[in-house]
Amino acid sequence: MNNNIFTAKEIRQSFLDFFQSKGHRVVPSAPVVPHGDPTLLFTNAGMNQFKDVFLGTGERDYKRAVDTQKCIRVSGKHNDLEEVGVDTYHHTFFEMLGNWSFGDYYKEEAILWAWELLTEVWKLPKERLYATVFRTDDEAFNIWKKYLPENQIQRFNEKDNFWEMGETGPCGPCSEIHFDKTPDLSGAKLVNMGSPDVIEIWNLVFIQYNRNLNGELEPLKAKHVDTGMGFERIVSVIQNKQSNYETDVFMPLINHISELSGKKYTNELNNSDSIAMRVIADHIRTLSFAIADGALPGNEGRSYVLRRILRRASRYSRNLGFKEPMIYKLLPTLISTLGDVFPEIVHEQNTISRVIKAEEENFLATLERGLAKFDDILNNIKSQNLNIISGEDAFLLYDTFGFPLDLTQLIAREKGFDVDSAGFNENMANQRERSRQARKITNEEVISLDSNFITEFTGYNEFVTKTKILFVEKNKVILDKTPFYAESGGQVSDTGILEINGTIYNVVDIQKVGNARIHICNTEISAQVGDVAIAKVDIARRNKIMRNHSATHLLHEALKRVLGNHIKQAGSLVTSTYLRFDFNHFEKIPADKLSEIEHIVNLKIFEAIDVKVQEMTLEQARNNQSIKMFFGDKYGDIVRSVTMDEDFSIELCGGTHIKNTSEIGFFKILSESAIAAGVRRIEAITSIELENYISDLNNKIEQNIKEKENLKSQIKQLEKNLNSIKLQEIASDTENIIAQSMQINGINIITKEIANSDLDALRSIGDEIRNRTSKNTIALLASVNNDKVQLCCVVTDDLKAQYPAGKLVGKAARFLNGGGGGKPHLATAGGKDIEKLPLLLNIFPDLIFEK
Ligand code: ALA
Repeated sequence: MNNNIFTAKEIRQSFLDFFQSKGHRVVPSAPVVPHGDPTLLFTNAGMNQFKDVFLGTGERDYKRAVDTQKCIRVSGKHNDLEEVGVDTYHHTFFEMLGNWSFGDYYKEEAILWAWELLTEVWKLPKERLYATVFRTDDEAFNIWKKYLPENQIQRFNEKDNFWEMGETGPCGPCSEIHFDKTPDLSGAKLVNMGSPDVIEIWNLVFIQYNRNLNGELEPLKAKHVDTGMGFERIVSVIQNKQSNYETDVFMPLINHISELSGKKYTNELNNSDSIAMRVIADHIRTLSFAIADGALPGNEGRSYVLRRILRRASRYSRNLGFKEPMIYKLLPTLISTLGDVFPEIVHEQNTISRVIKAEEENFLATLERGLAKFDDILNNIKSQNLNIISGEDAFLLYDTFGFPLDLTQLIAREKGFDVDSAGFNENMANQRERSRQARKITNEEVISLDSNFITEFTGYNEFVTKTKILFVEKNKVILDKTPFYAESGGQVSDTGILEINGTIYNVVDIQKVGNARIHICNTEISAQVGDVAIAKVDIARRNKIMRNHSATHLLHEALKRVLGNHIKQAGSLVTSTYLRFDFNHFEKIPADKLSEIEHIVNLKIFEAIDVKVQEMTLEQARNNQSIKMFFGDKYGDIVRSVTMDEDFSIELCGGTHIKNTSEIGFFKILSESAIAAGVRRIEAITSIELENYISDLNNKIEQNIKEKENLKSQIKQLEKNLNSIKLQEIASDTENIIAQSMQINGINIITKEIANSDLDALRSIGDEIRNRTSKNTIALLASVNNDKVQLCCVVTDDLKAQYPAGKLVGKAARFLNGGGGGKPHLATAGGKDIEKLPLLLNIFPDLIFEK
């Protein structure tokens, strides 16, 4: 083999260089998260980004291309997620090296160049290469005969040698190249047998048909070449390794895991620690690239796939003894191997790391709870003398605790139990059916409608379009023109009506599939292909959506201005009633900043700025630094920019917008929250929605006022109650006080300090003393408040002329260095010398009789 081309980097580069020297344009990988293609969870082949060229609905300004494409495959017959890492040559994330001819060269050159690269540049031993061709493809067979002996060329049928993108779409016969890793060159009978010793390294597809909706093959106008080589596999071949994981693509990751866990990696296939290391090394790649391209773990669709992958890796990390998050720690190592080829993982490393770590934390906690639940289930089964876990319980563990069936089986087996897997599958099928019912249109249905129909979108300029039916089936119809916007870029689909042959149909949803827009109605449509349809968008609803969409752009820029340039859109939802904007930011936004953001948006609304829409080439957009583009979004060659004030917001956007910012009316943020580590969400409303908001607010205020009034009268009532309790207390206190009176000179005299009281209380007690004794009594009551003594003197009516209370209290007050006075029957005063109060109470009788 060629010793100058040996590292993974060199191998990748030599592939690109080789085809560049054969006139191919080196193009970037498309994002691994396809935006705007509902038929595809993840980019799964190099040709995805060229599907339109093959079908003749799109064009490029080159006829030959080469790249390395990031791919994720998590399902399909050769990619059972549960097998990845258990074997040594399947991956959830891999690079597909590919070269393409768009109606240019065909089989002759495709095979010649493949041969030249493998045997002359990389110098692979010819005796280890096998070619396969489609059973009837004599042309390819004969070309291969120029390079290989006949016994190294094998014919296979449709299953192995007719490549199709999906149920429909571009396809054609293919020719694969396999490499024999057996020590004794005994691989001839292992080709296409699923053996790790003879593996497919390159697939050359000769695209010449489109599989249409009826399942028939329609010849395409031009013939194309689409090739795909598994990068990790070719590296293992060139580096002479039995397993992809032993190459320099994976070893840095494996070594890092080994270092963190203190466990050794061995090449034994069944060593459980090594399986765990392979799983983690594989999955960190998938997670990092998917997150870098804008996906996040979650509960639906591709988000759920990511969550499953993360949980699988995390489960294996636990097997290696980790109780704390560790997968995220591998990111720097991944970046050191791939960061220069795919800089997005460098740009997004903070987000990737935080998202993975937070998910790991969550899952490890769930896992602990799941294991506890598992124990409950087992105890329950044991108590019934059974030894099989029901399908329902297995499903509960799966659905609520994230335990895949095989994990449940594994743990059960360890403890001597069985699992009713048929029952589990039944539960699973039921749930799938439920969620299928819940969706308006199923994936299968979308795929069966996937075709090369083209619907022209007229909805940027008009709300009503007269159009023609291209396809109709049950409640779905494809039109040749439509003003209906189909959900994309976060903006929800339009609704409205179709008028066909005098009948009105309600359009409840629109789906974009390829270049077609499928209108989904709530009833079956009786019409024929070719019939005229008048398509009318619900204008009021669309206007609200447009206001919210334009407000989203203003919000995006306001966030940047207030929080910093690091703010990047992570997702958005634009509906008719509110808007939602997710972005990368690591902390809660304080209330004053939120007000500032809101204020900036409102200023832009009141400036009444015309919204300018412009078409330009992607190149022009890239050269304009102030245009917001989204990393990971796929843009066509011609893009659309939406500008609201050249110095404020310019964004590439395919959505629909109002004509002037003043139409937004007003912008109000309703909430700000965290949705994942490092990702925050703002929800806001605009225009007429404020009406509801304000009237809600008004109701709340009125409600508050009412509650306040109620509280006030409650307080009053309580005060009354308290007073009457006090009076009762006073009454019983008064009895005690009277009982302590002394008789001096024939008069009953009372002196008493009363704790915790005030002048009012003293007066009340004084009154009460007068009432109860009615004659022959003089009392001096005192209390200390705020460093002052308060005094109250009462005299019964029979004595008040001879001993007026006013005079007596005056004398008493002077004794305390104070003063006061009042009526003959009751008088009050204050004094400053608190410390003399006990003495005063002792000598008060003397003061009464003093001349
Ligand atoms: N599109 C072909 C594949 O994915 C090359 O195998």
